[in-house]
Amino acid sequence: MASIEISKVTKQFGSLQILKGIDLQIQSGEFLVLVGPSGCGKSTLLRTLAGLEKSDEGELKIDGKVINDVEPQSRSISMVFQNYALYPHMDVFSNIAFGLKLLNKPKHEIEHRVNGIANLLQISHLLDRKPKELSGGQRQRVALGRALARQNPVVLFDEPLSNLDAHLRSQMRVEIKRLHQNMKSTMIYVTHDQMEATTMGDRIAVMKEGVIEQLGTPTEIYHSPKNVFIARFIGSPEMNFLEGPIVKKVPWPEAQKPDQLLGVRPEALKVSRGPLGPQEVEIGQMQIELSENLGGQQMLHGIIENQSVRLLADSLDKFSISEQVPLKIDLTKVHIFDKKSGLNQRL
Ligand SMILES: Nc1ncnc2c1ncn2[C@@H]1O[C@H](COP(=O)(O)OP(=O)(O)O)[C@@H](O)[C@H]1O
Ligand SMILES: [Mg+2]
Repeated sequence: MASIEISKVTKQFGSLQILKGIDLQIQSGEFLVLVGPSGCGKSTLLRTLAGLEKSDEGELKIDGKVINDVEPQSRSISMVFQNYALYPHMDVFSNIAFGLKLLNKPKHEIEHRVNGIANLLQISHLLDRKPKELSGGQRQRVALGRALARQNPVVLFDEPLSNLDAHLRSQMRVEIKRLHQNMKSTMIYVTHDQMEATTMGDRIAVMKEGVIEQLGTPTEIYHSPKNVFIARFIGSPEMNFLEGPIVKKVPWPEAQKPDQLLGVRPEALKVSRGPLGPQEVEIGQMQIELSENLGGQQMLHGIIENQSVRLLADSLDKFSISEQVPLKIDLTKVHIFDKKSGLNQRL
């Protein structure tokens, strides 16, 4: 078990400021997801924590102890990389056992731990194979096994599932969560995939251009995004942003100011049929352009006051192309953002 404290950490490569004063505190045993677009500095932050890069300024602490000058191998940190980085000439058993051998653990303990972790990852039948005889998903499991076998109190993951197909990704997501529940290590998981972030994180740190823009539980980030960037980045299908007179239909003082955006997720926008609920407001007529069948739901694409919108409806509801339908919003689920600053006006 280990808590992590990152204070005012900066890092520059050449003339580029990559980390601009990162503050982040992670509780012992937490699963924190660091999410952000490619190039925002996620790997740099993780590598700095692991000791593979040196920060220019700021402090890194594990369990209250400053580790800035501690060698990587003495930081009690394991790391899993996107590209697996297995030893090609060693079989799966030796790959997983490698770190334990370096620690001079007795043979029976190494066998016990490797077998335990292989069992957990369902790769026990592969222990005598070489990496080239494995599929991508199996290799990634071995890489996870190698990192987890050392039982370090901190485990860092840098986009470990990016090279896997969608089906394996969703399966491994659940397995990593299950491993976390069994192992109780403190884990930081880096991804650019907002779906991985919200499904896996106890808390999520959303990063942009070397700055952590918002830190919170997946529910907080989804329902109370601090600004337009976060509202757009987290959630799929993406939030609709509407401007112009339509914004003023929202009966809040913030919505009456000039240059505001109405942010409404596709599931909070509904075709208005029958009487309105107490928190519902009609916002105008949408012309339907097309419908995508998603199975249980359909995504309706349409135009309202010359602006494109998307909304989710039951797939059994009947709509026809070019039909005009009245739209309503649920006030408990919409946001007003200032167009210029991008800030959520009601937080
Ligand atoms: N060793 C390095 N030397 C120079 N620039 C680097 C180095 N490592 C990363 N960068 C740059 O720093 C920025 C952030 O990189 P990175 O942390 O890998 O982003 P992310 O993991 O969020 O995609 C990128 O613009 C990248 O090109
Ligand atoms: Mg990266």
